[in-house]
Amino acid sequence: MVLSKAVSESSSDLSVHSTFASRYVRASLPRYRMPENSIPKEAAYQIINDELMLDGNPRLNLASFVTTWMEPECDKLIMAAINKNYVDMDEYPVTTELQNRCVNMIAHLFNAPLGESETAVGVGTVGSSEAIMLAGLAFKRRWQNKRKAEGKPFDKPNIVTGANVQVCWEKFARYFEVELREVKLRDGYYVMDPEQAVEMVDENTICVAAILGSTLNGEFEDVKLLNDLLDAKNAQTGWETPIHVDAASGGFIAPFLYPELEWDFRLPWVKSINVSGHKYGLVYAGIGWCIWRNKEDLPDELIFHINYLGADQPTFTLNFSKGSSQVIAQYYQLIRHGFEGYRNIMENCHENAMVLKEGLERTGRFDIVSKDHGVPLVAFSLKDRSRHDEFEISDMLRRFGWIVPAYTMPPDAEHVTVLRVVIREEFSRTLAERLVLDIEKVMCQLDALTSKLPPPPLLPTTAMLARKKSELETQRSVTEAWKKFVLAKKTNGVC
Ligand SMILES: Cc1ncc(COP(=O)(O)O)c(C=O)c1O
Repeated sequence: MVLSKAVSESSSDLSVHSTFASRYVRASLPRYRMPENSIPKEAAYQIINDELMLDGNPRLNLASFVTTWMEPECDKLIMAAINKNYVDMDEYPVTTELQNRCVNMIAHLFNAPLGESETAVGVGTVGSSEAIMLAGLAFKRRWQNKRKAEGKPFDKPNIVTGANVQVCWEKFARYFEVELREVKLRDGYYVMDPEQAVEMVDENTICVAAILGSTLNGEFEDVKLLNDLLDAKNAQTGWETPIHVDAASGGFIAPFLYPELEWDFRLPWVKSINVSGHKYGLVYAGIGWCIWRNKEDLPDELIFHINYLGADQPTFTLNFSKGSSQVIAQYYQLIRHGFEGYRNIMENCHENAMVLKEGLERTGRFDIVSKDHGVPLVAFSLKDRSRHDEFEISDMLRRFGWIVPAYTMPPDAEHVTVLRVVIREEFSRTLAERLVLDIEKVMCQLDALTSKLPPPPLLPTTAMLARKKSELETQRSVTEAWKKFVLAKKTNGVC
């Protein structure tokens, strides 16, 4: 008895067993209910770590603009601040001070009209989506206040955007009850047409949102033209329709690569701008910024003042608590790289995008849908879709480890499907060249696969229709049906 007790006790001791033979790891855990008992920390780590191995490799995730690599020194700062709640401003005054420095640096980068001793108006957010909700709310409230003062109805606000807007604009419109008026795209023109946008503006338009770096193909919209057209319409109608620039990606590209391009606060109708710190701001996921031209553009009644954590704290955010690490990391990147460093990084991204683009052009198989001027990404479509499509290429690239999304364009260009590769800081020249080689291999494999299939029937004859489907044909129709199903489900929720 004594002996068997000793054995059963030692058998529950994790350190005695090989990691994977311990009873904690060999038995499956309940998935959807909290387990009854505790398990050792080593076992919990091992189980979670192993399951996470099945996630893709973030560095090879070319679908996303979001940063996947930072310097180890910054990783250290992030880990050191992981337990600081950003909202405890009185307890962590230095972190608050760093956020204010970031707001000011970014406002200057966007040419905010600030006097020598003036501080910028802006806020750190979880990402561009939160920044856009806040900017949209400020526009809505300002418009309502103006309409109320004029004794006019204020219950039908609308916002004008291109159909290429990211899903966060649709969220804003739905959550905050603003009609979304989208300028449709057309073949070969995948951004908002400023003339059509201004035509859609009426007295209930709270703002026109322009995108600096369309999510779909990286193209910059013509904010200068939009500003000039709106200026004329405002002068003619007496309205004061403002512009918001969604510079989620382009805000940290244009100032470095295209300093002459006028898209920011140099244009008088641009009243607010958002940018994602976690995209080309070069910080891991969880930080964005919203900057207002000046104080009057952010209605005071949207700012909450709390004092129970110490001193008076003005806040304008959708949530309360959040981590401090990303703010600290943004400050690190801004002072570590400075203007010179950001310019170098963005130039390198642009050059690598060109290497990839030229490699794809050399294959003769693709049309390039992105522009050289814009966010460093390459969006491309098959010239000939009769034998295979972009979704198959995306699937096959997964086997090489690459994650390259394929998606359809929004209305009225939904018949166009593209593959998109986002070039981030750590996507080196070697990787760009390697990706071209792997795409070539995929094309060869797809050609070999389809050459084994009988050519698709042109016009089905009665005899053909009557014939029993071969196994291959059945497979093909199942695949087709799935493709249609998947296509129907696809939204443009790319990020
Ligand atoms: C143009 C644009 N706006 C907004 C967003 C949303 O950004 P975030 O992921 O920072 O919330 C994205 C994301 O890709 C985007 O491309």
